[in-house]
Amino acid sequence: MGKDVIIACDFSTKDETYAFLDLFKEEKPYLKVGMELFYAEGPEIVREIKRRGHKIFLDLKLHDIPNTVMRAMSALSSLGADMINLHASGTAAMMEAAAKGLERPDGTRPLLIAVTQLTSTSEERMKNDILIDLPLDEVVMRYAENAKTAGLDGVVCSPLEAGKVKERCGNSFLTVTPGIRFDGGEKGDQVRITTPKQAREIGSDYIVVGRPVTRADNPVAAYRRCLKEFTE
Ligand code: C5P
Repeated sequence: MGKDVIIACDFSTKDETYAFLDLFKEEKPYLKVGMELFYAEGPEIVREIKRRGHKIFLDLKLHDIPNTVMRAMSALSSLGADMINLHASGTAAMMEAAAKGLERPDGTRPLLIAVTQLTSTSEERMKNDILIDLPLDEVVMRYAENAKTAGLDGVVCSPLEAGKVKERCGNSFLTVTPGIRFDGGEKGDQVRITTPKQAREIGSDYIVVGRPVTRADNPVAAYRRCLKEFTE
């Protein structure tokens, strides 16, 4: 399972998205669709990208009462998404309900992945604003364990945390890791980054790559480089 590069389609319209996808004549990359594109274009964007033959990670980070999340997950699952996420802070009961909601009539379901703490949350903000008085690393690991116990398939985390998550939750528990940059590439606003090769060595199952591919002069060549470094 896993070992794939997921391109973050951080575009604001379907036209921009399809123009980008049309660049790929030979391969059908795994794509991440986030809030911006989903809220702008609606569920049809997911159906259309699936019709074009791509796998989709729907990055909508659900967090609500268990019954609402279960019903929302059911709607999202029926669109054909291959991977969906939620906030582990929504509690184990919410995560269990989400997994239940994802099940399709044919018995299949998308992978369900938990966000532990957002990388934009510092330890200080977590203490002062969310009122959690534990080291950030420990919170990430405990949330990962909760997600595993609730029956989830893995977590979104920094590639630098992937090894530790595997140690605590087992090797088959998936790590989906953004924060990827080529050697010598622009970091942008990302801080804790690795190259695709380092992410592979640490044990990431899926890397999520946005700007190094979408803003490259030649996105197809950048995607191929990423895939080669990560999987070979
Ligand atoms: O352009 P870049 O490679 O930085 O894009 C990374 C993608 O992963 C973006 O869509 C970003 O929102 C997402 N992401 C992240 N860090 C997280 C969770 C998601 O960078 N902790």
